[in-house]
Amino acid sequence: MARIRLESAGKRYPNGFAALESLSLDIRDKEFVVLLGPSGCGKSTTLNLVAGLEELTSGSLYFDDATMNAVPAHRRDVAMVFQSYALYPHKSVYENIAFGLRMRGHPAGEIEKRVRDAARRLEIEPLLERRPHQLSGGQRQRVALGRALVRQPAVFLMDEPLSNLDAALRIAMRAEIKQLHHTMQTTFVYVTHDQAEALTLADRIVVMRDGVIQQIGSPEAIYDRPRNTFVASFLGNPPINYLEGFLREKENQICFARGALSLILPRQYSERLRGQAGRPVKLGLRAEEVDEHSVPRAGETLHGRVSSVLPVGSDQYLGFEVEGSLLFFRVGRDLRHKEGEHVALSVNVNRAQIFDASTGESLLWDGSA
Ligand SMILES: Nc1ncnc2c1ncn2[C@@H]1O[C@H](COP(=O)(O)OP(=O)(O)OP(=O)(O)O)[C@@H](O)[C@H]1O
Ligand SMILES: [Mg+2]
Repeated sequence: MARIRLESAGKRYPNGFAALESLSLDIRDKEFVVLLGPSGCGKSTTLNLVAGLEELTSGSLYFDDATMNAVPAHRRDVAMVFQSYALYPHKSVYENIAFGLRMRGHPAGEIEKRVRDAARRLEIEPLLERRPHQLSGGQRQRVALGRALVRQPAVFLMDEPLSNLDAALRIAMRAEIKQLHHTMQTTFVYVTHDQAEALTLADRIVVMRDGVIQQIGSPEAIYDRPRNTFVASFLGNPPINYLEGFLREKENQICFARGALSLILPRQYSERLRGQAGRPVKLGLRAEEVDEHSVPRAGETLHGRVSSVLPVGSDQYLGFEVEGSLLFFRVGRDLRHKEGEHVALSVNVNRAQIFDASTGESLLWDGSA
């Protein structure tokens, strides 16, 4: 059992820098939570506080109902996989993985079984007799994972554990970690700056910026209902497009307007957007929200000029100039548009986002996760 709660947690480093001011987070027992955000936003700091490698300078940390602030790391029943894997250079892979269990006095037969089992899962069985310097970066990283795995702790903490793997292995290991979570029924807190990794693995994603949580929610909620432009821009590839303009109301319909462009916003947005005609807003359109197969209809169409066509194997990216702005859309590879061509693109307005033009806060966000 391990529910993890941070209450108004603060971390000020000895040099005076406050990495976290007041962070509150409630992680459920057996949940897979991913901390996501750009470099320096405080992901590792948060994880280190939970692990006990750093002390809170204000606020509280609880595991279930027990205060953890003063409990040393080795008494917390957590296993951590670090961004840098920190293996013992003079021990074999086998001994690196077995070390934590030996320290805790597990019987030899039990250790052997757990080490072999972890090695099989991580596909490093043939490497068990090697030393760390005889391994590639990706292999070392898997040894570090194995070391945490055999501990069977109440909480797994992982700090960018896949960052040294090549693309194919990273996908395979993502699947393996997801499977591990499923079979181990343990709380996982996982740090990454890779949005795809977060979307794949998480029950809930915590998006952070400058030590402050921006949004907590399921991958679907974070992707489809971002709270602000920071969250919207951090997920999605290529990134979400923005168009600045105004809200308009005509005949009971609410529209986004910019120059000659007018898009009719979906009916379900009315409640939140009514009575705000003239308000400057940013329209957010994800790269995949053009529908090349539907017939362009009034109020759902962008008229513009194709400025670039970038094939990327299975798809192509279209650079598209609309009302003085350059947008990028991802379309099927069969679409035959040429650079310089003027075309009409049908957009999926049902998924459009509307943000306040100056604060970047979503006008659609209802506080739900
Ligand atoms: N020991 C320290 N002393 C002073 N400042 C620190 C210390 N450790 C981290 N910081 C600062 O705290 C902030 C958060 O650092 P942290 O390592 O938590 O970021 P991160 O989100 O894990 O970034 P990355 O993705 O680069 O690993 C950064 O601005 C960093 O420079
Ligand atoms: Mg980090």
